[in-house]
Amino acid sequence: MESAESLTAYLLDVILSHLLLTCTLLLVTVAAICWYIRDSSLVDGFSHKYVFITGCDTGFGNLLARQLDRKGFRVIAACLTEKGAADLKSVASPALKTLLLNVTDSESISRAVELVRREVGERGLWGLVNNAGRSVPIGPTEWMQLKDFTKVLDVNLIGVIEVTLQLLPLLKKARGRVVNVASVLGRLSITGGGYCLSKWGVEAFSDSLRRDMHHFGIKVSIIEPGFFKTGVTQLDLIEADLRRLWTHLPQHVKDSYGATYLDDYIKTQEISMNILCSPDLSKVTNCMEHALTARFPLTRYSAGWDAKLLWIPLSYLPSFVSDFAIDMLLPLPKEKRNN
Ligand SMILES: *[C@@H]1O[C@H](CO)[C@@H](O)[C@H](O)[C@H]1NC(C)=O
Repeated sequence: MESAESLTAYLLDVILSHLLLTCTLLLVTVAAICWYIRDSSLVDGFSHKYVFITGCDTGFGNLLARQLDRKGFRVIAACLTEKGAADLKSVASPALKTLLLNVTDSESISRAVELVRREVGERGLWGLVNNAGRSVPIGPTEWMQLKDFTKVLDVNLIGVIEVTLQLLPLLKKARGRVVNVASVLGRLSITGGGYCLSKWGVEAFSDSLRRDMHHFGIKVSIIEPGFFKTGVTQLDLIEADLRRLWTHLPQHVKDSYGATYLDDYIKTQEISMNILCSPDLSKVTNCMEHALTARFPLTRYSAGWDAKLLWIPLSYLPSFVSDFAIDMLLPLPKEKRNN
């Protein structure tokens, strides 16, 4: 009698826990399907939507311009150089328009905005992709002068702010999207110079912009790429500039780093860039495309395995952990080694 009762209790227990497990799995599956449907639901009428992209000479901007052009968007691609514009034009459809833009020159921005205004007419501007950027001068903080910082900040941050402010009226008209290219270095400051500062600035500017403009139907997305093979990570440019910075250092500063420091620094950087840099730029442009085409774009997109598995998680850990990890990436100055 007693054993029959305990058997019933046991069976009941098994059935209940099975039921609970099944319900949980079912709920998770339904939630995942709902999220997938929401995430892949797109806006329509690409062929009536104008997208303005900065920095289309090479890299992410160039690939995105071609990608959106193939999808039927009305792409207005801003390039810094005539050659960049001509090369892009030669591989795109006749619908793609190019113009010249130097984001550090207010007059150049005004001219570009006027051309965009004439092009989009009453429809307004659906998308603004602030992609233009530079990394050099980049290196140890002590090696920099103020103008080395402003050279990068002017393009990556002030340029983004000025282009955005001037295009806001057209974006409002279309209840459009702003897509700002930040970086994992906008979450984790791992090197000196203006680059990390500028990307932290882009994160903050985008957050303010999103909170202020969602009332008008404007959505703002931030792209945080890890390391990719573009002009920004071009080693020969970075190395040549590091040598320039080193040459201008006073002898006592050079002595504190040691005679071999510059070469060690460059070598370490080469090794880590070769491991980290992905040649597949579409990982980034696909995030940009989602931000422009999805009915429910994300606020932040991280692109690349290094961003997802290394930099972004590291950015959430206490500073002593990230300090230790970043120390591992760079050589030690001579004075430190001798202590
Ligand atoms: C961009 O404009 C700035 C400011 O007018 C100027 O100093 C710089 O040389 C220009 N860059 C290019 C590539 O034209």
